[in-house]
Amino acid sequence: MAKTAQLIIDGKTYEFPVIVGTENETAVDISDLLEKSGAITLDFGYKNTGATKSAITFLDGDKGILRYRGYSIEDLAEKSTFLEVAYLLIFGELPTTDQLNKFSGDIKNHTMVHEDIKKILDGFPSSSHPMGVLASLFCAQTAFYPEALDPNRAAEGVYLSIVRSLAKMPTFAAWAFKNAVGHPVNYPDNRLDYCSRFLKMLYALPAEDYHVDPVVADALDKLLILHADHEQNCSTSTVRIVGSSKASIYSSISAGINALWGPLHGGANQEVILMLEAIRKDGGDTEKWINKAKDKNSGFRLMGFGHRVYKNFDPRAKIIKKAADDVLKKLGVNDPVLEIAMKLEEVALRDPYFIERKLYPNVDFYSGIIYRALGIPVDMFTVMFAMGRLPGWIAQWKEMRENKEPIGRPRQVYVGQKLRPYVPIAKR
Ligand code: MLT
Repeated sequence: MAKTAQLIIDGKTYEFPVIVGTENETAVDISDLLEKSGAITLDFGYKNTGATKSAITFLDGDKGILRYRGYSIEDLAEKSTFLEVAYLLIFGELPTTDQLNKFSGDIKNHTMVHEDIKKILDGFPSSSHPMGVLASLFCAQTAFYPEALDPNRAAEGVYLSIVRSLAKMPTFAAWAFKNAVGHPVNYPDNRLDYCSRFLKMLYALPAEDYHVDPVVADALDKLLILHADHEQNCSTSTVRIVGSSKASIYSSISAGINALWGPLHGGANQEVILMLEAIRKDGGDTEKWINKAKDKNSGFRLMGFGHRVYKNFDPRAKIIKKAADDVLKKLGVNDPVLEIAMKLEEVALRDPYFIERKLYPNVDFYSGIIYRALGIPVDMFTVMFAMGRLPGWIAQWKEMRENKEPIGRPRQVYVGQKLRPYVPIAKR
């Protein structure tokens, strides 16, 4: 017997089917609520509303579970690589050796960008935030690959756009940083793996025989895996709704980059370090700042603690915390800001105020710490998040298109003026 739910409005009962997902998540399908009842639902921020059915990522906020296509984030972070995880998210299965070699080889063949992209880059002052540059350069691909604007592209055309997106994102990201520091850009060295290629473009100086530290490259690969997808978060929902208008993958993902930029989303990892640096400049008295965080009137909020979905702990944070400890030890990093972070973490994990409010260190807390230890400039932290989230955005855009989902068009409850006659300016 199919499960149903009933809604009573003005004494009339309406019945709706109940959908149960693979992991027994339950949803009331209200697709015909307005047609049946004339009423809509209201859910600010859509926190109680499912926008789609997806087979890509499963997370359980209460149990701290995160899985990509059924594989646990713990397994993938320990045993896989970022490009293998990207293949899994986008195409649904772990690749064979031949499939991964072809995917990686296709990506290597597209890491270069058209030289005219540099003319666009040159238009950005060095004061430009790398996220704004990244979103612009990524969208500029629509100018160089206009065939991607065709919403009815065949599968091999979409595959080429996917490869170009993954191949050129690190190049755009490194160039955005070089623009910020006023240095000449580096071209991709395709002899290297994905993360090493990016790090060399990011850090190498002209005529320098730059060698990437494998510890840094491995840590970055793990960080990108941990950020690869997170079901219907703000930026992914943005990619889906922009893509639902049949906008190209490049413009849809550019919109996602802009959504991720916000300090309440991907920008949080940058805010964590800025907060830690402010505490250091103030003398490093963590107790003082902990008390400010507890004082509602202080206006101070501890960045990098708690999560809107995970109610007990963020599984990614646990993995990153260990990676951060490993990297700090291997690189021998002694940084006063990182010491402040460890003190804040220690308090947050034992202070009843934080425990009762589920304010535990989240993925942004530790990713900010590890990026700093890797020498990544703070303005590039959210760019790293975007690089990691790219395969998730691609997978979600592709799923939405393949499922032929309708254009996203939420409704509203109007609370403005009733009908009123126009008043000429002379009479106002
Ligand atoms: C993410 O990974 O996108 C962030 O944790 C935010 C979220 O899922 O809402």
